[in-house]
Amino acid sequence: MDYNSQKAARSRRLPDTLVRLSANQNQRERRPRYCDIWGRLRDAPGAEVAVVTTERAKHFYSPQDIPVTLYSDADEWEMWKHRSDPVLHIDLRRWADLMLVAPLDANTLGKVASGICDNLLTCVIRAWDRRKPLLFCPAMNTAMWEHPITSQQVDQLKAFGYIEIPCVAKKLVCGDQGLGAMAEVGTIVNKVKEVLSFQQS
Ligand SMILES: Cc1cc2nc3c(=O)[nH]c(=O)nc-3n(C[C@H](O)[C@H](O)[C@H](O)COP(=O)(O)O)c2cc1C
Repeated sequence: MDYNSQKAARSRRLPDTLVRLSANQNQRERRPRYCDIWGRLRDAPGAEVAVVTTERAKHFYSPQDIPVTLYSDADEWEMWKHRSDPVLHIDLRRWADLMLVAPLDANTLGKVASGICDNLLTCVIRAWDRRKPLLFCPAMNTAMWEHPITSQQVDQLKAFGYIEIPCVAKKLVCGDQGLGAMAEVGTIVNKVKEVLSFQQS
């Protein structure tokens, strides 16, 4: 195929590219299964739930998928203008009885293990009162999960006193089969309720 024919073929493919983009959009509009966690916990007697999102995570859900108050980095910075203003990550760590990080991706796992706190989520975790439970649900591609740094970082979080809800093996979104999928929603919700009832007894 000569250059001009290749160019013509490329421009004919453009609408396909747009179709693919809108297909991704549809994919994003499917509710990720972790969105079920917040509603199920909110419906537990006496429970109040708030969600903290990272900026990257926003790519994977629509705000209407989150049936509870949703905080992100913008809230942290918009709330604080003067010395007497509330500091959101400190207010949240005071307010909550329990913290659940679900899913905990490889990036945030690495940050938490080494103490980095460059967004609202990692600031709440860094400031967390370790007398209160923090549960985390790792979720990542199998190759990332099997990298030796992962078990070191998970062990570090457990050494901080945080509770792991282990990932499971299944066919992942990327098509790979193996360990790295977030635990089932039912497992996570039951574990949170169990830890909370233990706290209250
Ligand atoms: C489509 C897609 C899916 C991803 N899924 C995961 C995942 O399941 N686990 C993970 O650790 N990283 C995953 N990543 C990479 C993270 O999104 C990336 O490391 C990001 O910087 C995480 O930012 P955050 O920790 O601030 O949310 C994915 C990236 C893309 C583009």
